[in-house]
Amino acid sequence: MIVLKSDAEIVAMRAAGRLSADLLDYIEDFVKPGVTTLELDELAHAYTLKHGGIPAPLNYKGFPKSICTSVNEVVCHGIPNAKQKLKDGDIINIDVTSIVDGFFGDTSRMFYVGKNVSPIARKLSECAQISLLRGIAAVRDGARTGDIGATIQTYAESQGFSVVREFVGHGIGRTFHEDPQILHYGQKGKGTRLGPGMVFTIEPMINQGHWKTKVLRDGWTAVTIDGSLSAQWEHTIAIKSDGEVVILTESEREIAARPKI
Ligand code: MF3
Ligand code: CO
Ligand code: CO
Repeated sequence: MIVLKSDAEIVAMRAAGRLSADLLDYIEDFVKPGVTTLELDELAHAYTLKHGGIPAPLNYKGFPKSICTSVNEVVCHGIPNAKQKLKDGDIINIDVTSIVDGFFGDTSRMFYVGKNVSPIARKLSECAQISLLRGIAAVRDGARTGDIGATIQTYAESQGFSVVREFVGHGIGRTFHEDPQILHYGQKGKGTRLGPGMVFTIEPMINQGHWKTKVLRDGWTAVTIDGSLSAQWEHTIAIKSDGEVVILTESEREIAARPKI
């Protein structure tokens, strides 16, 4: 069942989206060699509370921290950890979700650690970002979820990479994960028809090698099956009553740094 949102509810969801976007801008400045993922979590937790939000991941289905930190071969749901110091050359996805006035705003970006990130890691991160932006460009009143998936899969595979199947985008609102599911692969013209009032995430995870993943024994950390690198970018998207498509989680800084698609 898809819970449609009114234009007023979409305006309210912007507050959650903006806090999550601002949080990523804030945390970016701390992503440096030597910082631990737990320190990033603690900074994010404090920032969220200070700005009137609640960090949604904390205690969600038993997740123990306030953000997900997914480094190198970690696909998603990496758990911040005091023993994990970032190193020059790492790539990290930081995924944040804030609750403001009961609504959720979910977004993630890739960050480069230090100056020595390899060309292939940069190409992969940029591919995931362009995949997201192309997926967003496929959203319109009357389009299908398969149009988004096909667009992303075609682009990512044209770059020599693969699309993760086991984790998908999702409707979002007063709950974290709602219908519909947004697959990042598939066929044009298939899937749920998109329309006014729908609010959902697009969050492609793109692997350097095989698309398959496995979950570590902590029950959360998903890694690539072959140990290859993985990258992800995520936004929360809304379709207003007049059909206008809006990104609820993009900061001015992110807009200024948008790659050409
Ligand atoms: N933010 C993630 C998503 O994009 C969900 C994280 S759930 C958690 O859907 F429990 F791992 F935090
Ligand atoms: Co999400
Ligand atoms: Co997320």
